[in-house]
Amino acid sequence: MVEPNESSGLVRRAVGPGPVVRELWGTGSPATLTAAEARAVAAAVPSRRQEFAAGRACARAALEELGHPGWSLVPGPRREPRWPAGVVGSISHCPGLAVAVTARTVDTITIGVDVETDAPLPPGVAGDVMGTGEAAAVERLAALDAATPWSRLLFSAKESLYKAWYPLRQEWLGFDEAHVELSRDGTFRARILRAGTAPLPRELDGRWVRGNGILVTALVVPADVAR
Ligand SMILES: CC(C)(COP(=O)(O)OP(=O)(O)OC[C@H]1O[C@@H](n2cnc3c(N)ncnc32)[C@H](O)[C@@H]1OP(=O)(O)O)[C@@H](O)C(=O)NCCC(=O)NCCS
Repeated sequence: MVEPNESSGLVRRAVGPGPVVRELWGTGSPATLTAAEARAVAAAVPSRRQEFAAGRACARAALEELGHPGWSLVPGPRREPRWPAGVVGSISHCPGLAVAVTARTVDTITIGVDVETDAPLPPGVAGDVMGTGEAAAVERLAALDAATPWSRLLFSAKESLYKAWYPLRQEWLGFDEAHVELSRDGTFRARILRAGTAPLPRELDGRWVRGNGILVTALVVPADVAR
């Protein structure tokens, strides 16, 4: 069986120092799920059970590192992972890769991570994800660097933002409720276009990384940001 580790360093570069990072390159095995986790995907197609198991294997390894061995990570009603008290985290998968990132709440308010295949978004999707200002910025970036799939990076940054947002607020956040500004230096800034964002600041800084045919975006909000 393939075991989660931190082999590529791609996710670590996006996340930065501090949180625990575990990656699994390959296929997850549903046989490794706890009974409660297995029940959550019992009706799913085999590929979904495999990606779920790959994410759970990473999460289990990342939780063990924080002193929570054998934690059964059952999803909540909006699919959000239910981490142990005192822990925040995030999971993502794309074909061939699953990742989990965890941290203690004393250090980190929330985390969002997203991995994507390094390729342009399918036609028609970009318009649903980007506002006019974002689309114009993506065009400017593409004129400077046509090899980077900027629209998919922007999509991924918004997915990371949602995963960081939802566990704190328990509320939907639409693609039109945030403005993401990507920079060529591997950073991005997300501005939440809502009246209230507490306990999150309105503007959050994240990082993006490309490598091995994969894009990674991550937002890690340190506990001292709100103090
Ligand atoms: C939930 C969502 C972000 C998942 O992204 P995805 O690209 O489909 O899939 P990924 O593999 O990257 O991530 C899936 C993981 O995200 C996590 N996740 C799902 N819903 C979540 C939520 N509400 N809160 C936190 N994490 C969540 C889960 O761990 C899930 O994996 P699992 O079901 O195997 O446990 C996406 O499907 C979605 O609903 N997006 C719309 C909301 C959004 O992005 N708004 C933009 C705000 S600017």
